[in-house]
Amino acid sequence: MDCPLKDNLKTFTVSTPALPEGGYPVVIGSGFLGRLRAALKEQFAGRMGFVITDRSLVQAGHLDRFLGGSQMGVYVIDPPGEVSKTMETLTSILEAMESCFLGRDTLVIALGGGTVGDIAGFAAAVFKRGVPVVHIPTTTISQADSSIGGKTGVDSTRSKNAFGVFWHPAAVYMDTETLQTLDEVQYRAGLAESIKHAAIADAGFFAWLEKNADLLLKRDPAVLEHLACQNCRIKASVVMEDPLEKNRRRVLNYGHTIGHALEALSGYSLLHGQAVAIGMIAAGRIEKEMGLVGDDRLERIEALLTKLGLATRAAGTYPPQKILELLKLDKKSVGRRPRFVLLEKLGSVLCRDGQWALEVPEEIVEKVLVRLADTV
Ligand SMILES: NC(=O)c1ccc[n+]([C@@H]2O[C@H](COP(=O)([O-])OP(=O)(O)OC[C@H]3O[C@@H](n4cnc5c(N)ncnc54)[C@H](O)[C@@H]3O)[C@@H](O)[C@H]2O)c1
Ligand SMILES: [Zn+2]
Repeated sequence: MDCPLKDNLKTFTVSTPALPEGGYPVVIGSGFLGRLRAALKEQFAGRMGFVITDRSLVQAGHLDRFLGGSQMGVYVIDPPGEVSKTMETLTSILEAMESCFLGRDTLVIALGGGTVGDIAGFAAAVFKRGVPVVHIPTTTISQADSSIGGKTGVDSTRSKNAFGVFWHPAAVYMDTETLQTLDEVQYRAGLAESIKHAAIADAGFFAWLEKNADLLLKRDPAVLEHLACQNCRIKASVVMEDPLEKNRRRVLNYGHTIGHALEALSGYSLLHGQAVAIGMIAAGRIEKEMGLVGDDRLERIEALLTKLGLATRAAGTYPPQKILELLKLDKKSVGRRPRFVLLEKLGSVLCRDGQWALEVPEEIVEKVLVRLADTV
């Protein structure tokens, strides 16, 4: 599908055999949000737009910038953030869509971060048995990761992303300028997903992150665009190989096995990226305990996280037994035994017998969990 925004934007195509068009465009640039509604009107002619966003996006002026004074159905998630990523919010959105008399000609437009994108994608997948969704990601996490790949879902009272479906977007529009209004803690937390991408897939990108850490913290526009493009390239290539996460795509879960458990145990006071940062350190320590490390990758990952203002140890109380229980609920678990994505070296993941997520002896996991709050 062609992008009607004709200026200096970079476009990637994520090929997805499940889609009738065979894939979808990811468009990256800076400062085009105000022109996007008109472009979508042209691109999705005949469809009724319905925007799902949250209170912060309204307060930051992004919703008004997108709407440009035009009338469109809007649902504002309030309070914003993970606490609202629930079945209740999903139901409330679907009923709001129905009360606007929307039909199968609806276009869902997700304007916001990963929470908005995950719920809006889920809503689009189940409304009238499925309508298209366009993602307009506005956070470091959603521009690096969540807007590409088609994973949607909500949390249960016990665990992260417990319920959801795969529903690929019809298009993704990343305006990196929207990141300028993101809160500093959220901004830095989201950079953990970029470090993850570099660690699993591209040592050169990792070195670039190390070199450009100061400019990243200053939110330099050119650096932000380059960052979005590199993340998009890596995420898209993994997703295209394994769209339904049968195996290879699991590499994207590096740092997430323990990260998700910490996030849930903290009652979501720990942000996703903050939890992933600690989860990557835990995975690195598991690699060390298993005798898999012959380089300084753990030290480099730790140094980069620290430079970008991310904690590498768990400050709260996370009882190892509780984490172990949650690990059994992890989607990669087989027979209630958790599996971990581990690095072979910086830029590539260890694969054994064709498997990208590996079983680790419980005593090693426990040993690492006990030391989660330690510095070394
Ligand atoms: N589907 C996937 O593949 C995938 C991948 C990674 C993460 N995720 C999910 O994404 C979520 C985390 O993503 P997130 O951090 O983007 O979450 P989020 O949507 O909760 O955004 C974080 C906070 O920033 C605010 N915000 C968003 N954009 C803003 C802007 N431009 N200016 C000011 N404030 C803004 C939001 O209102 C919210 O309070 C988690 O639920 C995680 O599970 C999904
Ligand atoms: Zn993540």
